[in-house]
Amino acid sequence: MRLIIREKAKEASVYVADYIVNRIKEFNPTPERPFVLGLPTGGSPISVYQLLVDKYNAGQISFENVVTFNMDEYVGIPRDHPQSYHTFMWRHFFSHVNIPPTNVHIPNGNAPDLAAECEAYEAAIVAAGGIDLFLAGIGGDGHIAFNEPGSSLASRTRVKTLAYDTVLDNARFFDNDITQVPRLALTVGVQTVLDAREVVAIVVGARKAVALRECLESSVNHMWTLSALQLHRHAMIVADEDATLELRVRTVKVRAIGSDAYMYTYTIGRGVVDNDR
Ligand code: GLP
Repeated sequence: MRLIIREKAKEASVYVADYIVNRIKEFNPTPERPFVLGLPTGGSPISVYQLLVDKYNAGQISFENVVTFNMDEYVGIPRDHPQSYHTFMWRHFFSHVNIPPTNVHIPNGNAPDLAAECEAYEAAIVAAGGIDLFLAGIGGDGHIAFNEPGSSLASRTRVKTLAYDTVLDNARFFDNDITQVPRLALTVGVQTVLDAREVVAIVVGARKAVALRECLESSVNHMWTLSALQLHRHAMIVADEDATLELRVRTVKVRAIGSDAYMYTYTIGRGVVDNDR
């Protein structure tokens, strides 16, 4: 697992946005062979989306041959609700780039048969050729997508009851009124994420520090579902300094020769942990 640390959240976002753009360019997608990108919501990826939009506007990247699958969606609020993940994605990203609307996939939390919707979602991912890169965030309780503590690490897209911690966390988007926060969501499973050819998680802010420690330095377990990334061959976490506050393994910050930039080295004792794949 690679751990990339940047001083500030903004710099972590720049790293992630550059990484995604480079991946898409290297892939050189065509209509017959699109790049399949998994996407999250939440506060952490907003500046990544902003940067991707900036790069699109600067003519550095096209999303014409990109197919997207979002991680999750609330159940029980209308699609055009200001806090639905559908609204979020169009507001922050899709409306500002050239992705064909038919290439966008977001689970439908208003489907008449939610179980069938989840099955169809998994089938659509397979039909698209699988996800090339899944971008993820992390909840304060270490959840990935809405795979709350206790989720099976073999889970696939399904209906999930939100943990009370998540309801409290997400109340900030619902006028701080927990009664307005949906209690159910459709979410891809942990295994759905692990099936992607590559996973990149952005983890920023002191609020995520305990979760990052548990996911990165404890064993793989279903109470901190991001820890499942340890099982992935191509997983990378991009964090800011605040998110590393609780890490047990020390991080040494050194100024790169001839530059104002800092490099971060994750160490155990005197040895440097190989934080590459
Ligand atoms: C929700 C989403 C997660 C996201 C999390 C964290 O729970 N389902 O995918 O990672 O929010 O959001 P934030 O980045 O705002 O802390």
